[in-house]
Amino acid sequence: MKKIVRNDWENPNLLQINREKPRAYYVPYADLESACAKQRGRSPYFKLLNGSWKFRYCPSIVDAPADFYKETVSKTDWDNLYVPSNWQVNGYDQLQYTNVNYPYPVDPPFVPNDNPVGLYYREFELPLKWDKRAVFVNFEGVNTCFYVWINGASVGFSKVAHMPAEFEITKYLRAGTNTIAVKVLKWCDGSYLEDQDMWRHTGIFRDVYLLARQKNGVRDIAVKANLKGENGILSVAVDGGGKAGCVLSLYDAEMQLIQSTKTTGNKAVEMEVVGVNPWTAETPALYTLSVKCGDEVIVQKVGFKTITVKNATLLVNGKPIKIKGVNRHDTHPALGHVTPLDHMILDVVTMKRHNINAVRTSHYPNDPRFYDLCDEYGLYVIDETDLETHGLHPVGVWSMLSDSAEWEAAYLDRVQRMYERDKNHACIIMWSLGNESGFGANHVKMKDWIKSKDQERLVYYERAGYDACVDVVGYMYSDIKTMIEQGESDDPRPNFICEYSHAMGNGPGDLKEYWDVIYKYPRLSGGCVWEWADHGIYAKTADGKDYIAYGGDFGETPHDGNFCIDGLTAPDRTPHNGLLEYKQVIAPVKAEAVDLEKGKISVTNFYQFASLDHIVAVWQISCDGAVMHNGRTSLKGIAAGKTKKVDLGYQREELALAAGRCLLDVSYQLATPTLWAPVGHEVGFTQFELPFAGAMRPKNKNAQKREALRCEQQERTICVTAGDYRYVFDKAKGSFQSVQYNGVEFLAQFPKLNIWRAPVDNDMRITQEWQQQGIDRNETHVYFTELSEVKDSKVVIQVSSSLGRAPAMPTIKAVTRYTILDTGEIQVEIHAVVRENLTHLPRFGMQIMMPKGFEQFAYFGMGPHENYVDKCRSAKLGLYRSTVDAQHVDYVKPQENGNHTKVEWATVTNLLGFGLKFTGAPTFEASVHHYTAEELQAATHAYLVPRREETVVNIDFMVGGMGSASCGPELASAYCLSQKEISFAFQMQPIFEEE
Ligand code: GAL
Ligand code: MG
Repeated sequence: MKKIVRNDWENPNLLQINREKPRAYYVPYADLESACAKQRGRSPYFKLLNGSWKFRYCPSIVDAPADFYKETVSKTDWDNLYVPSNWQVNGYDQLQYTNVNYPYPVDPPFVPNDNPVGLYYREFELPLKWDKRAVFVNFEGVNTCFYVWINGASVGFSKVAHMPAEFEITKYLRAGTNTIAVKVLKWCDGSYLEDQDMWRHTGIFRDVYLLARQKNGVRDIAVKANLKGENGILSVAVDGGGKAGCVLSLYDAEMQLIQSTKTTGNKAVEMEVVGVNPWTAETPALYTLSVKCGDEVIVQKVGFKTITVKNATLLVNGKPIKIKGVNRHDTHPALGHVTPLDHMILDVVTMKRHNINAVRTSHYPNDPRFYDLCDEYGLYVIDETDLETHGLHPVGVWSMLSDSAEWEAAYLDRVQRMYERDKNHACIIMWSLGNESGFGANHVKMKDWIKSKDQERLVYYERAGYDACVDVVGYMYSDIKTMIEQGESDDPRPNFICEYSHAMGNGPGDLKEYWDVIYKYPRLSGGCVWEWADHGIYAKTADGKDYIAYGGDFGETPHDGNFCIDGLTAPDRTPHNGLLEYKQVIAPVKAEAVDLEKGKISVTNFYQFASLDHIVAVWQISCDGAVMHNGRTSLKGIAAGKTKKVDLGYQREELALAAGRCLLDVSYQLATPTLWAPVGHEVGFTQFELPFAGAMRPKNKNAQKREALRCEQQERTICVTAGDYRYVFDKAKGSFQSVQYNGVEFLAQFPKLNIWRAPVDNDMRITQEWQQQGIDRNETHVYFTELSEVKDSKVVIQVSSSLGRAPAMPTIKAVTRYTILDTGEIQVEIHAVVRENLTHLPRFGMQIMMPKGFEQFAYFGMGPHENYVDKCRSAKLGLYRSTVDAQHVDYVKPQENGNHTKVEWATVTNLLGFGLKFTGAPTFEASVHHYTAEELQAATHAYLVPRREETVVNIDFMVGGMGSASCGPELASAYCLSQKEISFAFQMQPIFEEE
């Protein structure tokens, strides 16, 4: 067979042409002040080439014009496209979301012959004063490989989407107007190493700029900032700088000079900071190193810290830390993989406000400016190599490339360029060798290389498992049992789970269970929730409606549907309730009751470094929702990791309390402002149910009035009247046909037992089982209805019925007893038996559909946001008033939502105050919506959520937990509705607020 001539883009050994050696990320300035201000535009040596470029998309490289880069070739008929951008969100090529599968036939290193290409071209003016300097063009990120020309001359070629590429272009430049042409290929051999779970976006998606450098100036700077006792030791190695050398100056946070020294050659210089302020994510103290070389000033922020492992525990600055992390992709709902600085700041601020202290840059080095933010705001970073070969897994050769000598150079190139770009950042605590690429010899080579450069930071690679090649071990999505085993294991390495608690849709529900064990075992260093943000894309329907799209919405194959909608925040970073949940579970302050009669609690500081001097406890005592007392108590003097008794300063005897349930809410708030939140920002809370109450709560007004009770039985119906209450019970339907008071009708349909919910994403795997078992549709069969008691004070109707559907046997059989009192109250008692050999149920309760107009929803229970048995830590007991519309939680892919647990009572009323009141015995779960579960289930996107005029009220015994089983472990049995016999009771009563 003829030897195949390799294209540049199908040759894993061709990594680049004329690309400069990788170096630390920096921008040179002319003076210290501008360098510290970090406004690149203030540098006379920096010229941004972002902007509107001429652009032409070609569906296949085969047909792309070969000489397009020539200045003589006209581009007047070309399009305009912003740089940075992705083609696919700008109307070119095909939008495609795929998780595991490669989007083309798997045949490494070969990619489709019809490889789409984007041609870019623009003119730029060379700044006047640049003629004596060496000029470089920098591309911070191009997906996936590209060629560059300047003024028609070929400059070079580079691969690896998420790594910078720098080329020297001095010799091609001319005074005045110059041209740059870039040819970007959609696929290359490197695509086999870039199979991350994301939209397959292409193009120049990060900044492009020119740097005018001093000839023989600084090339690279490598700093290592360590601790030695109370002092900081800074080692600085400057590559380049010529004979004249450079002046290194170290400044403190107030820009007071600490030390200044000269360096020539490549030898590392040491500087010492006596009594250093160490860097941690909680106390991100930064120093400023300036490297002045000739007319260039380069500023590098420096944070002093140590990373060590002792007794299998991960230590920062000698103290154990817990990684309260998230996985972050560079993703934007309108821009694709383009992440403007403001958008990254929004991410960082939102993370910090939710107690997150770490980010894994899944699954590639994020935008370089993101790391500056992490240094500054305080986030630990697990920096991950741009490497994933997941698509080799389904074809049965997962480790093929990871074990292939032919691909070794490509693997090393990726880890080397990450290390060199990011090495100086204080925030990085671990290097990750990539994600889901099987495991092979090339990983070991990567580890060896990084160890030769950095003996401090730890090396992690999830797929290495417990192999000796990694410093930290831990499998993604480990279940709690595995976590406990890991906690107790005698492996000397810390455990870290790079992914856990899959935050897809309504969830995750299993966070507390993880944190109970992570806090318990020193070896467990924590983990990163998958993932930070939903990767939805802003799109328009055919008739012009805005919506958020996911995989498959653009007709692409293969695709993975809404599996990219699995973040703690919506695409625009609005926090989902799951993020509120995470925030509270990992909150830095927690408290327990000591003596609530005397206002005494014990407060524990869960920070690893910071004291609680900056936190104030703001507390209030409320009775049935009315705030009776409040106060503020400083938490000064509680050191990291310590617990202390705190006196809130009230005495039970001195408290005037109103009737009802009394609660003590303690909110922990910032007493001093931070970079990421103002004074008053709540970092966590504790709610105590007070063991004492005010006066007795008055009984429901209506319920106290006794009326003459009458009962008339007809062939089909039983009609019960008590004064102006009039109830009609349909014997054949086994339910109320009408519930009226003063002529107002409260029912739109027969109330019925209900076991179904619109599956949440975490029900993904169990839904099929539910369907097979006939749980997904409830058809009621009434065996009999019996008027079993008629007295002056009450009437009792009993119904024996079942729920089920063809071709299965009934799912449940139930006896429901309705007792109608002369007060108008209807007591409902259900005793249900669940069929043997069924899996756990989605929910169990009664669905009551009320007519149009019942829009007000008030309740005393867990709120204000939705909560479930396992997703309720961020909710508080309280009296809440809301509306039916406001109860809808708008998930990108609609699913069960808006539930409230521990509800003692709830009312659903119209504007005049007529409605139904439900009272628990003692509590129930409740939700109100303008759709039934079946109707919601049919909606694939938020804009398709139906809205009927009636109000659907769900009064439930329980709604099963949310868990995180869309990727994580099965729902914990404690949160499964798996009772085989269920007894559930509540009361229902028409109310008329007039009375
Ligand atoms: C993990 C993978 C992530 C993501 C997640 C599912 O296996 O590392 O990239 O695909 O599953 O959302
Ligand atoms: Mg993957």
